[in-house]
Order: sequence, then C-alpha cells, then structure tokens
Amino acid sequence: MSPDRLAALHAAAFTRERPWTAQEFADLLANPLCHLETAPHGFALWRGIAGEAELLTIAVDPARQRRGTGAGLMTAWSHGAAPTCTTAVLEVASDNAAAIALYARYGFETVAKRVGYYRRADSFADALILRAPVPFPV
Ligand SMILES: CC(C)(COP(=O)(O)OP(=O)(O)OC[C@H]1O[C@@H](n2cnc3c(N)ncnc32)[C@H](O)[C@@H]1OP(=O)(O)O)[C@@H](O)C(=O)NCCC(=O)NCCS
Repeated sequence: MSPDRLAALHAAAFTRERPWTAQEFADLLANPLCHLETAPHGFALWRGIAGEAELLTIAVDPARQRRGTGAGLMTAWSHGAAPTCTTAVLEVASDNAAAIALYARYGFETVAKRVGYYRRADSFADALILRAPVPFPV
C-alpha cells in the first residue's frame, strides 16, 4: 500500500487528530522496525522493539467500517508480532468507543492513563495505555 493511500485512509478515518502525511508514512515504512498490515480498505502499522509490539496507528475507511476489517488487522498484527514479541501496547483516546471495543475483544487491558492528553473542541480526553500478551488472547 502506497504512502499516498495510507495518508488518504488515515485522514478519512481520523477526523479529530492531525492527519499523518504521505512523507511521514514513507519514513515509517523505511524503518526496518516498522511493519505494515493491510486489508483492501484499511491498514495497521506497528513497531517491534525489544520484544514489545507497539501499534502506531490503525485505520479503516469510514465507508467500510463495522465489516470485520479492523478485526482482521488485529489478527494480522498478532500473527506478525508473535515470532519476535511477547507483549503488545497501544494508546487510545478515552472517548474512542469503537477502538476501545475492538481492543477489548483482543484482550487488551488498561495499564496507564494520561489525563487530558487529547484536546477536543471544548474539552479534553484522556489517553489510555493498553497492553495485551502476544499472541492476543481471543
Ligand atoms: C477502530 C477501527 C479501526 C475499527 O475498524 P472496523 O473495521 O470498523 O472494526 P470491525 O468491523 O472489525 O469491528 C470489530 C469489533 O470492534 C468493535 N467495534 C468496532 N467498531 C465499533 C463501534 N463503532 N462501536 C462499538 N464497537 C465497535 C466491535 O466489538 C466489533 O465487533 P462486532 O462488529 O462483531 O460487534 C475503525 O473504527 C477506525 O478506523 N476508526 C478511526 C481510526 C481510529 O480511531 N483508530 C484507532 C486509534 S487508537
């Protein structure tokens, strides 16, 4: 999947965060520690360091959500990380109900909270740090 396509999907899926540029995706893809899992209408990008698999971002085309793509990307991440990693970690905004529900399905549990980390139009949302063993307990 090209950096342009990744940037377009990211911009469409993330309406409240700064969209990542194609150049940022190109730089990440050039990093040997970064791994890309793709589906026809979505992708997950993760980085493996010292036995820990960190989800950098996951995005599904809003017009194609709730059809199992995110779940497939989580399974691909788990399989991709299993040979080298024992734990997985990610950060999610406390008001992102869809993502939190997705992660809970794969056994992720909250291990830390950054209070007021995300700025919203007229408020702030916490950042939750979630962790799960690899492979994910499904
Ligand atoms: C989070 C995201 C990747 C999920 O992708 P998706 O393809 O819609 O997910 P799936 O269809 O595979 O859903 C799998 C499960 O996740 C949960 N889930 C997904 N979307 C949900 C929603 N809107 N509300 C509640 N639960 C949801 C459900 O448990 C769902 O299973 P079910 O459909 O059998 O009930 C997608 O909503 C997205 O791209 N969001 C914008 C970007 C984003 O927030 N990324 C995460 C940043 S941390």
